[in-house]
Amino acid sequence: MINAGSINQIKPGKMQRIEAPDGKRLLVCNVAGHFYAIDDMCTHEDASLYLGCLKGEEIQCSLHGGRFNVKTGAATVEPAELPLQTYVVSLHDEQLMIAYPVPEQPQN
Ligand code: FES
Repeated sequence: MINAGSINQIKPGKMQRIEAPDGKRLLVCNVAGHFYAIDDMCTHEDASLYLGCLKGEEIQCSLHGGRFNVKTGAATVEPAELPLQTYVVSLHDEQLMIAYPVPEQPQN
């Protein structure tokens, strides 16, 4: 779990970049009071989505204009094709907690 700080730090329509202990960068997005966490790196090429633009529940990459849904991670506008990794966000005493890394799925 990563503590991404207070919910009051990220206003609706805004996002914040955080760094995981292993150096990976994540984005926490506030979409109308609901918080979502995604990878910061675009899946198309190496570009930080933090430099892009959050519009509603979609984030647009600044490099080629690809878009992703921050709730699902789905690529919605080309040239983005591969989905972004999403992370579960929970609240504890008004602190944003990010479930990172993603728990491994049990093998059958
Ligand atoms: S690097 Fe993001 S759309 Fe190309």
